[in-house]
Amino acid sequence: VTDAAVDTKPKTPTLPDAQTVTEVKHWTDRLFSFKVSRPASLRFRSGEFVMIGLMGEVNEKTGKAKPIMRAYSIASPSWAEEMEFYSIKVEDGPLTSKLQHIEPGDEIILRPKPVGTLVHDALIPGKRIWFFATGTGFAPFASLLREPETYEKFDEIIITHTCREAGELTYGAELIESLKDDELLNEVIGEGFWKKIKYYPTTTREESPKMGRITDLMKSGEAFADLGVEPLKPETDRAMICGNLAFNLELKEMFEETYGLEEGANSKPAHFVVEKAFLD
Ligand code: A2P
Repeated sequence: VTDAAVDTKPKTPTLPDAQTVTEVKHWTDRLFSFKVSRPASLRFRSGEFVMIGLMGEVNEKTGKAKPIMRAYSIASPSWAEEMEFYSIKVEDGPLTSKLQHIEPGDEIILRPKPVGTLVHDALIPGKRIWFFATGTGFAPFASLLREPETYEKFDEIIITHTCREAGELTYGAELIESLKDDELLNEVIGEGFWKKIKYYPTTTREESPKMGRITDLMKSGEAFADLGVEPLKPETDRAMICGNLAFNLELKEMFEETYGLEEGANSKPAHFVVEKAFLD
């Protein structure tokens, strides 16, 4: 084969930082999760996010296409072979209107630069850790719940998840159920580690066993009574928050004003950390 012959061969279009989709699951008409191949050199800490995206349409004037990128929490744990993501579908969302149609074998763009504040390094040691999520804000906790460090560092793990409808709880509920059969955790942490977990799912717009916003259920004391624990305090409790903006702000204020907790960061670990869930 001569060089000329090689040059005339049609090139397979490949995206920059391309990864291949290996699995897609649709949970409701608003939610889906998917897995992609993991870049060989990518290291990340459970709870971090990366930028992912797709190539946009070719601009008629410039003849070029620009990638449409958004921050997505990595839902898989740091040791997993593939990278998992959990996403909302927004009909006219610039990225998710397209991303919701991906299938195994397709390519997406994944920039291999993980960052984020929902990491164990940003919290000082404690007795109990709370994960507070709304909607797709469950994603970083899907990672952290499969991370051995979570069970090594804390005696008790409480996860609250508030969604509009009951079907939106399924991804999280199934993930928590699957922990019982997690070989790595059973081996490293010991059988029965999952008994450390208390799961508190609530819905706000559809009937379910527990209704209401978690913030209201905490203010009334109902959540603490249901869970059989004291309200959060700096001596024992640590927390990570990931949800919509109003939820994050309301909880942050409650933590600081009512419970006396201090916000932490990678550079200055403290009692709680906050991150906004992706919205297209
Ligand atoms: P609600 O139905 O009462 O608005 P969204 O899909 O809009 O991101 O909301 C996800 C979930 O978060 C919904 O159940 C919603 O309840 C709840 N939520 C929205 N804002 C707050 C808030 N400030 N505090 C607690 N929960 C909230």
